[in-house]
Amino acid sequence: MSTQPNIAFGIDIGGSGIKGAPVDLATGEFTESRVRIPTPEHSTPQAVSDVIAELIGEFDLDDDTPIGVAFPAPLDHGVVRIVANLDDSWVGVNIEDVIGERIGRRVYSVNDADAAGFGEVAYGAARGEEGVVLLATLGTGIGSALIVDGTLVPNTELGHLELDGFDAETRAADSARTREDLDWELWAARLQRYFSHLELLLSPDLIVVGGGVSKHHAQFLPLLSLRAKIIPAQLRNAAGITGAAAYAADRAMHDKKKFPLS
Ligand code: BGC
Repeated sequence: MSTQPNIAFGIDIGGSGIKGAPVDLATGEFTESRVRIPTPEHSTPQAVSDVIAELIGEFDLDDDTPIGVAFPAPLDHGVVRIVANLDDSWVGVNIEDVIGERIGRRVYSVNDADAAGFGEVAYGAARGEEGVVLLATLGTGIGSALIVDGTLVPNTELGHLELDGFDAETRAADSARTREDLDWELWAARLQRYFSHLELLLSPDLIVVGGGVSKHHAQFLPLLSLRAKIIPAQLRNAAGITGAAAYAADRAMHDKKKFPLS
């Protein structure tokens, strides 16, 4: 019998850091402080799996605590299709297999923005929202999650929408703001263009803005004029960890129903 029945472990793999923490599934809160290890410069499957093994080694987890990994690329049942912000050698790799073999445990993988969307629906800004909710994470890239009446439509990849001849995230991600030293007004103009277009295509009822920069939402969200309500994510940059943990718990529960004796 598990002594931690209400806990799952979430890991968020990002372009600059790999973070993890155990999450209380009843509240979405971390039960211990998160640990962050810088992403290796050469961020191959092997190097990232080694960091994850080190990260998990910092915690005393039960054998049956579900482990979820949020990954910054679209995942086709665990297989990386394209990768923008990590080493190209990830393409074609099944991340659940490679990380699972390295740490000797079952892991469940989910796109990082989908994890954030899952987390916001379960515990945060989109909790109980009906209709079409669009979550955009503004970070190194732009991640997107589309949630319709509480159900996630995975792998939407709306950061790669081609807009004005550019891959949208190269102009509107938070990394574009810092790289080009844009002030809040100039960056907000780019966000306005991006979100107006998304609004035209998808008519969301609610837009949730996540990513580390969402803690500065007062600097840029009031500058945007959209039909949909636009609000900051509540879980902020904890959303990847929390969402990955909640997602893993959900998948583990389904596996148990399908394979009750395993
Ligand atoms: C990737 C997405 C990811 C986003 C945020 C994009 O470049 O294609 O899968 O969700 O960055 O990390």
